[in-house]
Amino acid sequence: MSAQRRPRVIETVREMREAVAAERAAGRTVALTPTLGALHEGHLAHVRRAAEIADTRVVSIFLNPTQFTQPADLERYPRTLDADVDLLAGEGVDLVFAPSVDEMYPTGPTATTVSAGAVGSTFEGRLRPGHFDAVLTVVAKLLGIVTPDVVTFGQKDAQQLFVVKRMVGDLNIATRVETIPTVREPDGLALSSRNRFLSASERTAARTLSAALEAAVSAGERGIDAALAAAQGALMGEELVDLDYFAIVHPATFRPVDDDYRGPAIAIVAATLGSTRLIDNEPLRIG
Ligand code: PAF
Repeated sequence: MSAQRRPRVIETVREMREAVAAERAAGRTVALTPTLGALHEGHLAHVRRAAEIADTRVVSIFLNPTQFTQPADLERYPRTLDADVDLLAGEGVDLVFAPSVDEMYPTGPTATTVSAGAVGSTFEGRLRPGHFDAVLTVVAKLLGIVTPDVVTFGQKDAQQLFVVKRMVGDLNIATRVETIPTVREPDGLALSSRNRFLSASERTAARTLSAALEAAVSAGERGIDAALAAAQGALMGEELVDLDYFAIVHPATFRPVDDDYRGPAIAIVAATLGSTRLIDNEPLRIG
């Protein structure tokens, strides 16, 4: 990876709009990768893919306070802007949009919000009421500011990806959502900004999550019960893993599939290890 010039870091909505307008005037297409910061290889997979599908790459780094339902979670989220910009320089990213909270919410949380609907209060949304509404609202704002031709979202946050794709379709937003496959450690653990909080023993135990998903994928052809039983077997006996849910959902509704379902699905898992909550998922075929 060769070091390249640093991206231009833009802090205001006005300058961001002007920068995008200049790219468009020069005939260049624009890709946006929205992030909360604390970038890692998983995010870099987004900007590498973005380089293949658009001319100009914008990465937004905005630690959106409205989507954190636990103040402690927001408090401990790593703030690493300089290191993030260094990483993006190494990838040749053109523009970084790093607004302040006041710039994004000049009069406080917006009076107008986007609703994620019923899916927004299941799985991740059950534990964090309002989280997905806040995510969709800030994503709608970012899409309105950057107006990208394409926006990248990770398969890692399957429920977020689902509600974002639905919002873009439902609201006729003129962008294409590009799904970026999950990047994993060699032992299968999905990369996440939260992994840094795991102790050594929790890190070892965290492997169980992807092992459960792999077990479900392998057993999927024998039906839903077999897939769920295989996952349960992989998760059993790991005391450090406090399982929140393991479910197999329909890709078109994000609702658990029926017992006799056959077809494409997504196995999703969430668990807490110590004070760290991890989520993961894997697309699979049932039957
Ligand atoms: O997935 C994230 O990093 C955030 O939810 C997002 C999409 C940047 C919105 O703040």
